[in-house]
Amino acid sequence: MFKVNDNYQKLPGSYLFSTIAKKVSAFQAANPEKTLIRLGIGDVTQPLAPAIIDAMHNAVTEMGNAETFHGYAPDLGYEFLRTAIADNDYKARGCDISADEIFVSDGAKSDSGNIQEIFSVDNRIAVCDPVYPVYVDSNVMAGRTGTYDPKTEMWSNVIYMPCTKENNFVPEFPKENPDIIYLCLPNNPTGTTITKDQLQEWVNYANKIGAVIIYDGAYEAYISEDNVAHSIYECEGARTCAIELKSFSKNAGFTGVRLGYAVVPKDLKCGDVSLHQMWARRHGTKFNGAPYIVQRAGEAVYSEAGKAQLKEQVAYYMKNAAAIKGGLQDAGFEVFGGVNAPYIWLKTPDQMTSWEFFDYLLEKANVVGTPGSGFGPSGEGYFRLTAFGTYENTLAALERIKAL
Ligand SMILES: Cc1ncc(COP(=O)(O)O)c(C=O)c1O
Repeated sequence: MFKVNDNYQKLPGSYLFSTIAKKVSAFQAANPEKTLIRLGIGDVTQPLAPAIIDAMHNAVTEMGNAETFHGYAPDLGYEFLRTAIADNDYKARGCDISADEIFVSDGAKSDSGNIQEIFSVDNRIAVCDPVYPVYVDSNVMAGRTGTYDPKTEMWSNVIYMPCTKENNFVPEFPKENPDIIYLCLPNNPTGTTITKDQLQEWVNYANKIGAVIIYDGAYEAYISEDNVAHSIYECEGARTCAIELKSFSKNAGFTGVRLGYAVVPKDLKCGDVSLHQMWARRHGTKFNGAPYIVQRAGEAVYSEAGKAQLKEQVAYYMKNAAAIKGGLQDAGFEVFGGVNAPYIWLKTPDQMTSWEFFDYLLEKANVVGTPGSGFGPSGEGYFRLTAFGTYENTLAALERIKAL
């Protein structure tokens, strides 16, 4: 008789956004006349920029001709895209990262879930609390997290680094040494981040204790403050302790197109073992490359026209963020984030739990947000709204919330 991976049985409930989707469809079925405004899941609403559409059209035409047809892509990514990434995201910022240290993928969710595979099951992970749930859940599936306590909503073998208003959402070095440190900055869900000097301290710490940092920079394009690093490789010493994950979803609207990349520097080693070589081996075995059309679309993100158009798109969402933040503050809410990220993190009013506020907002304002507790125990009592809606819907949602 076959046996299943028991670790899956340990996962509590379903994935956060599936639970929300179920609640929302039940509400909609019971109230078909109500129009919902969705500021929950971090999905974009603006169409792909013209420069990207042009590049995709051209690539589609190429695929229709025998001379320019492309079959399997190189599993580490096409040279044209890896070079564009190295030049624009790294060299232009003074970071010493070369094209052959970049692994093109179908998005940061896959990379952030898969990267744990190259580490021993004995490693102890540390995560910011609250944070994007994929880091912990993928380690649960791998059997690295120990046992789950439903009361505290914590895993016995995970080091939680609370990020709350009390510490200004800045994670503190844990008392026990972790082996793998997940940092998602700017952070999903709190929309907050740390300064470059603070990030440098994390790099120093990781190098000192022999830990690796998995740095998820999915929201990098939204950084507006000068003292915030756009890449962990802006910090000295990061090449020996950090893997960086990036996505094209939030800066270029690729949530439905699918493209991302991981940087694994050649200097990142465990004794004599190169993590770069391990990830190349893993990628080569389990991934058959992002589609040619999509990689050409990704290249267009770095064209002059693409850059200008995407700057406008990011500004559009950040205008929403400013409207939500200001509007909620005027309405008496305690609000965080929204300056270097498209997320607004608010304290629930009247001591409501995150899920109580979710239900309240859904039923009374017909607005869908995300309960903070879904991102970790320290998210309890908080709530996330995204700035990824349309401007009109954002303002309409605000009016509804203010009228409560
Ligand atoms: C922190 C973080 N990393 C990764 C992802 C997933 O990115 P992708 O669409 O590239 O898979 C998300 C999506 O919401 C995210 O918030």
